[in-house]
Amino acid sequence: MAALLGGRSAPHRPVLLREAIEFLKPERGGLFLDCTVGLGGHSEAILETSEATRVIGFDRDGEALAAATQRLLRFGNRFQAVHADFREVSRVMNERGEKQVAGVLVDLGVSSLQFDSETRGFSFRFDAPLDMRMDAAGDEETAAELLLRLSEEEIARIIFEYGEERNSRRIAKWIVEQREQGTPISTTKELADLVARAAGKKKHQRIHPATRTFQALRIAVNHELEDLAPFVEEVIDLLETDGRFVVISFHSLEDRIMKHELRRLSGRCQCQHRTGVCNCGARRAVELLTKRPVTPDEFEIEANPRARSAKLRACRKL
Ligand SMILES: C[S@@+](CC[C@H](N)C(=O)[O-])C[C@H]1O[C@@H](n2cnc3c(N)ncnc32)[C@H](O)[C@@H]1O
Repeated sequence: MAALLGGRSAPHRPVLLREAIEFLKPERGGLFLDCTVGLGGHSEAILETSEATRVIGFDRDGEALAAATQRLLRFGNRFQAVHADFREVSRVMNERGEKQVAGVLVDLGVSSLQFDSETRGFSFRFDAPLDMRMDAAGDEETAAELLLRLSEEEIARIIFEYGEERNSRRIAKWIVEQREQGTPISTTKELADLVARAAGKKKHQRIHPATRTFQALRIAVNHELEDLAPFVEEVIDLLETDGRFVVISFHSLEDRIMKHELRRLSGRCQCQHRTGVCNCGARRAVELLTKRPVTPDEFEIEANPRARSAKLRACRKL
């Protein structure tokens, strides 16, 4: 458990922690939603700022939630864990009779608990069943099942769109050929080897050739980009006046959704075709606190290379 909780053997470093806390201002007290509690690093920092803060922490990964709950035991009932998808926030808040919150944090992507797991199939560093579900106890499709069901075109689209992988068509073709031969891909090693052969290793390539394909499949398996925009609007509506919303994303598609949604809710029309009549529903509900996304400095990236693609955006409810 020590490793999970940030012991020396596997330090867990919440990304952009100082910046997130500065924007959230939890020292004001009140109820905060940590929509992606993970190992509880950000929640812990929120709870430490004042005896008057409470946190409701969502995660769809029961294992992460158990570790976070253990870590945050000392805060008693100021921390409450919810095993749910954060896109169910309105239902959960209704059921709990909570009407308003002082701040909301969303730290998207995978946790180190998931990425460093030897059995859950998120990483090709370990040979494991190709699973990749954040909610390992849920009944969603695993990555192996997805590759068994989807057409070659759909697999190629996922790998191209979510992984920005130029060899997506070739990789998809090889995956489908393999399944037609009666030996579908079922482990991380099989997929990593197939991608390495299909994509070929380029000179001076810094990342493993399968990195982008693994990222793409993980996003698809967990529906990570779906319904993010309506979720943002729902939590912004839950914020009290001067309440804060902070989001950290790790993928350009996620960040683009956040950027557009926050701009729209700050009153800037996001209609693609400007006809003079706005129909994107732009309204002035928030003031943007970050004109450009905040990114980790060189010290944080050196200490935690996984932080390198992080982008933080924040706003304040009007
Ligand atoms: C980057 S980690 C969060 C790390 C956390 N801030 C900390 O300090 O330890 C992201 C977490 O969000 C969870 N997650 C991702 N998408 C989710 C969703 N739609 N609903 C609930 N939890 C989600 C993942 O299971 C993972 O544990």
